[in-house]
Amino acid sequence: MRFFLVASMVVLCFIGISEGGSLRKNFYRTSCPQAEQIVKNITQQHVSSRPELPAKLLRLHFHDCFVRGCDGSVLLESTASNTAEKDAIPNLSLAGFDVIKNIKDAVEAKCPGTVSCADILALAARDAVSVQFNNEPKWEVLTGRRDGTVSKSSEALINIPSPFQNITQLKQIFASKNLTLHDLVVLSGAHTIGVGHCNLFSRRLFNFTGKGDQDPSLNPTYANFLKTKCQGLSDRTTTVEMDPNSSKKFDGNYYPILLQNKGLFTSDATLLTTKQSRNIVNELVSQNKFFTEFAQSMQRMGAIEVLSGSNGEIRRTCSVVN
Ligand code: HEM
Ligand SMILES: *[C@@H]1O[C@H](CO)[C@@H](O)[C@H](O)[C@H]1NC(C)=O
Ligand SMILES: *[C@@H]1O[C@H](CO)[C@@H](O)[C@H](O)[C@H]1NC(C)=O
Ligand SMILES: *[C@@H]1O[C@H](CO)[C@@H](O)[C@H](O)[C@H]1NC(C)=O
Ligand SMILES: *[C@@H]1O[C@H](CO)[C@@H](O)[C@H](O)[C@H]1NC(C)=O
Ligand SMILES: *[C@@H]1O[C@H](CO)[C@@H](O)[C@H](O)[C@H]1NC(C)=O
Ligand SMILES: *[C@@H]1O[C@H](CO)[C@@H](O)[C@H](O)[C@H]1NC(C)=O
Repeated sequence: MRFFLVASMVVLCFIGISEGGSLRKNFYRTSCPQAEQIVKNITQQHVSSRPELPAKLLRLHFHDCFVRGCDGSVLLESTASNTAEKDAIPNLSLAGFDVIKNIKDAVEAKCPGTVSCADILALAARDAVSVQFNNEPKWEVLTGRRDGTVSKSSEALINIPSPFQNITQLKQIFASKNLTLHDLVVLSGAHTIGVGHCNLFSRRLFNFTGKGDQDPSLNPTYANFLKTKCQGLSDRTTTVEMDPNSSKKFDGNYYPILLQNKGLFTSDATLLTTKQSRNIVNELVSQNKFFTEFAQSMQRMGAIEVLSGSNGEIRRTCSVVN
């Protein structure tokens, strides 16, 4: 009996490892001991001259993980015969590719063919956000991801949540990644940094139901403010801060602002429309609670369908498959 228990625990352990548990703390400890420090150094250098970069890298990591798992597929360029994820419609304003390339070049110079682009992106997103916290990491990034070889714009369209979606639709997409409603509300707090383009919310201002009206769930004062920024329904170039007046500061402001009905997108505002999700929003008004929960949900997001063992490859150049 005792043997049986031990044996089944060993088996369970292995099952645990095969389910996204293939990631490790400091996976490159022996194969490329300086990898994580190189990522950190170069990320910091770029952030110091580009304060909008943390938002770019965080979003890039999110888009990577939601399409075919965190496999660096968002970094691949389109080819003559394939339109890649980065050229799909939800790619609007994706940026930071140059920074990933810069880091990858430095890492390759030290340890060729060893460190995946997917890991570099996961680490750089964390390190960029952490700069404003004296480089104290806000979440742990386990490593050992391998890079995928497939990137299709059609898959980005299906898997990347849209700013026009409601809670039911968002929950569904997150569930398809094994992420919960709680993860959805917590990770939406990433919108404490960064900007959004007018055309992604302008219907809420100018033509909500097709009658030239405004979204009643949008704070009227905030709507008036947004109307002074956006030129109209077809304004695709103007951007506004998602977290008004603190869009470069990673803080807990997203939730109090949301509760004032100042969520920018329908996908933000919709988090208030069910009792269950609203309760989670209320809970996250506490910034410490948000930071703790965000760290946990980021680990879960960073483990979506990761490639390990002999699956995938270690790409030599992040924008093309080997
Ligand atoms: C819940 C579903 C989500 C939807 C519908 C959504 C949608 C969007 C949209 C439409 C934008 C603006 C893009 C633009 O106009 O340029 C945006 C920006 C951003 N999103 Fe999300 N997002 C979601 C979840 C997330 C998650 C999970 C993260 C990261 C953990 C994230 C991080 C960001 C960041 C940092 C920006 C700012 C990018 C910048 O400043 O360029 N979002 N998101
Ligand atoms: C990172 O930067 C620090 C301080 O600038 C420097 O001492 C260190 O050698 C750098 N490490 C790597 C691996 O580039
Ligand atoms: C987004 O896709 C369009 C084509 O659909 C492309 O022209 C543009 O360069 C892409 N943006 C980025 C940041 O890759
Ligand atoms: C969410 O949107 C879908 C598709 O437009 C719609 O069928 C559904 O009724 C909406 N759900 C809620 C709760 O608004
Ligand atoms: C979600 O979990 C199930 C069961 O453990 C697994 O088969 C599936 O691959 C997971 N999906 C993702 C996207 O991680
Ligand atoms: C507002 O929406 C309606 C219905 O979709 C459309 O017919 C109308 O042209 C829109 N108004 C503007 C100014 O685009
Ligand atoms: C941002 O700050 C300015 C100046 O302090 C203030 O007038 C404005 O109302 C703030 N904007 C929002 C949307 O809170």
